Amino acid sequence: MPGTKWGQGGGTLRTMPEPAAVQSMFSRIAGRYDLLNRTLSLGIDQRWRRRVVREAGDLSSSVVVDTCTGTGDLALALTRAGARVLGVDFTHAMVARAPGKTKRGDDVQFVQGDALRLPTPTDSADLATVAFGIRNVADRLEGLREMARVVRPGGRVLVLEFSTPKGVFGWMYRTYFTKVLPRIGRLVSKDREAYDYLPRTVLAWPSPEDFQAEFESIGLADCNFRRLTLGVACLHWGTVPADCTVPADRVPAEEVSA
Ligand SMILES: C[S@@+](CC[C@H](N)C(=O)[O-])C[C@H]1O[C@@H](n2cnc3c(N)ncnc32)[C@H](O)[C@@H]1O
Repeated sequence: MPGTKWGQGGGTLRTMPEPAAVQSMFSRIAGRYDLLNRTLSLGIDQRWRRRVVREAGDLSSSVVVDTCTGTGDLALALTRAGARVLGVDFTHAMVARAPGKTKRGDDVQFVQGDALRLPTPTDSADLATVAFGIRNVADRLEGLREMARVVRPGGRVLVLEFSTPKGVFGWMYRTYFTKVLPRIGRLVSKDREAYDYLPRTVLAWPSPEDFQAEFESIGLADCNFRRLTLGVACLHWGTVPADCTVPADRVPAEEVSA
């Protein structure tokens, strides 16, 4: 993709819920988010995040931007593998819980900021990551472009997201996901909406092949994906090519304290 392009082109723009509604929903469930993640995924969510870290390879002295960082689980896994990490999330109640989870030696900073306007300069990171976040971003292509913008040429973009398995297991999974999970989610979070939103957005999510095409449409190279746990989740990656131009740098954000 010579001389292109994080600011133009790409595929279809699909409308997600209003950012204010997304923020409000995550603010309401922030206090129980980690507990619900572990319960509803039977603890597998942390294994998926470790898979992202493994895919990232040698992280020593790498700079990573983890967007939609939420309560910081992926950012923390990345820094414990040697990276210096900036975790960014626009919901204060979520990201404010992250600093309290750090341990001595973690090289991580958490800021409140928008995935569509990351508070870090162009080409400043070796890697940009997002776990279960891009699905919630109002314009996911713009979110991917923004991740690519902050990554230096030759660096990578890694996205972990839910997916929908096929076949008999897919049928069982959809039953769990649409009937059982929202009930448990509602009981534990005390929020009617949030755990209806989850299956609704996951079932409307593109197939791994189509999402990979979106990676390619914004100019990422060497794109590929790996299905995890029989296709319940999927890890996607792409590389920022050497020959691209990028829009101007963006403004810094304020660090969040515990
Ligand atoms: C399902 S949580 C994922 C959190 C975390 N990455 C994890 O692995 O648990 C989705 C997060 O995306 C954040 N988010 C959604 N849209 C965003 C945006 N435009 N900018 C920044 N954060 C956003 C929400 O605030 C929420 O914390």
